[in-house]
Amino acid sequence: MQAQILVIFGASGDLAQRKLLPALCSLYAGKSLAKDFLVLGVSRTAKTDDSWRAEIKSSLHDKPAIDEFVKNIFYQQIDTANPNEYSVLSEKIKVLLKGREMPANVVFYLAVPPHLSAQIPSWLAAQGLNNQEDGFKRLVLEKPFGHDLPSAKKLNMDLLEHWQEEQIYRIDHYLGKETVQNLLVFRFANEIFDAMWNHRFVDYVEITAAETLGVENRSGYFDSSGSTRDMLQNHLLQVLAMVAMDPPLSYDAESVRNETMKIFKSLRPFNQYDLENKVVFGQNIGAKVKGEQIKAYREENGVPKDSRTETFVALKAYIDHYRWNNVPFYLRTGKRLPTRVTEIVIHFKPTPHPAFVGNPSGVIGNNQLVIRIQPDEGILLKIGLKEPGSGFKVKTVNMDFHYKDLSHIRVPDSYERLLMDAMLGDATLYALGQAVEYCWEFVDPILHYKEAEAKIWGYSAGTWGPLLADELMARDGRQWRYPCKCLTSDGETCEL
Ligand code: BG6
Repeated sequence: MQAQILVIFGASGDLAQRKLLPALCSLYAGKSLAKDFLVLGVSRTAKTDDSWRAEIKSSLHDKPAIDEFVKNIFYQQIDTANPNEYSVLSEKIKVLLKGREMPANVVFYLAVPPHLSAQIPSWLAAQGLNNQEDGFKRLVLEKPFGHDLPSAKKLNMDLLEHWQEEQIYRIDHYLGKETVQNLLVFRFANEIFDAMWNHRFVDYVEITAAETLGVENRSGYFDSSGSTRDMLQNHLLQVLAMVAMDPPLSYDAESVRNETMKIFKSLRPFNQYDLENKVVFGQNIGAKVKGEQIKAYREENGVPKDSRTETFVALKAYIDHYRWNNVPFYLRTGKRLPTRVTEIVIHFKPTPHPAFVGNPSGVIGNNQLVIRIQPDEGILLKIGLKEPGSGFKVKTVNMDFHYKDLSHIRVPDSYERLLMDAMLGDATLYALGQAVEYCWEFVDPILHYKEAEAKIWGYSAGTWGPLLADELMARDGRQWRYPCKCLTSDGETCEL
């Protein structure tokens, strides 16, 4: 890795404390960072280098490395919303570079409110801080990338006025998850799976991202966003693209992102019938969950009493692509659901000649492949086997792999991987501006429908969303998998 400065805007915020600095410290402890590696925190709160160092120590976990790590950390207070103060930042960068034999390589990480995402890059450019003659300059942006298609297009245009697409790294932290990346390896390094990864063998696909938490202290942001913008438009569609994409020519940024882009472009747009029949919105109402009284969404701090913001969305999508001809993809995400779990389930078609139907064991399940993103990360394949004894009783059994069994290998946090890639200049796991626009193109009609006329169905906290979400599947003679924390437990009580 080349020597560089990582400038974090929003340094006193939650993301920097909770994710970015611990990830950097861990990379430092693992000796993955350059020798000349500096972090410059920027925000409007008054702090000194020393006071910031003291403050962040408590959020770092790699104890033996902390004291050395924080020596590389500096702080600059500026009013980040005031363009006139950016000369101060530019000077500070010069001071940090002075005396160090390193090029002026700088990565700007913007963990800031959305309205500053376009402004800060232009104010940096006004100081010449986008100029790559003396070293690379990169921008790492956190979502949201706009709140609909027009605003996403405007954001992209504003960014491209002063920066090149190659300099822009749009973060989707789901792509940093080890298990999401493993999808590429699992699919394309195992011919037995890839050969069946198409409409001939796959009946349908489920993607679930469930959370037990509510909006916590983010109601201001969430109430103007909702689950569709917050989770579906980005994380769920990115995961869907990794599941559905064709094999890339190679594993460089261009090839991988071209393939995922084709999937976004091929998402079949929803017409009025689809909107009325294939999308379900929900909002959680209060309930007692495991002995604890959970508030209704509308009772959360800062949420308007008549809010129509959805805390749950489920839909049935199609991809107009040769490989996926008429294979439905059912997606759902929600807050205050029974467990925190993200997983993909590939449901294979039944055998063409059901020789064992009518056997006394009852229903023979079709093969299912469960790819667990979190927690209990792993892979589960459900297959039918003969139960020992007379006759041909078929029993569904599990073949499973759990990442935790690789006990000698630590699964890194997604921010570790993503920060590292941005610093190395590898954009494979970052979203292209055009891809973000395609995702909005698909999601925009869904949002318009929700905002204009859709019903938002109540669901009790601690349940799997509105009953209509179950009906969405039941109408097709299907059923969601109801997972629990433990990959193999299949919704049975699990003490994990
Ligand atoms: C964020 C959303 O992008 O992802 C949050 O804004 C959500 O609302 C979070 O809680 C979920 O991330 P993870 O990694 O915990 O699944």
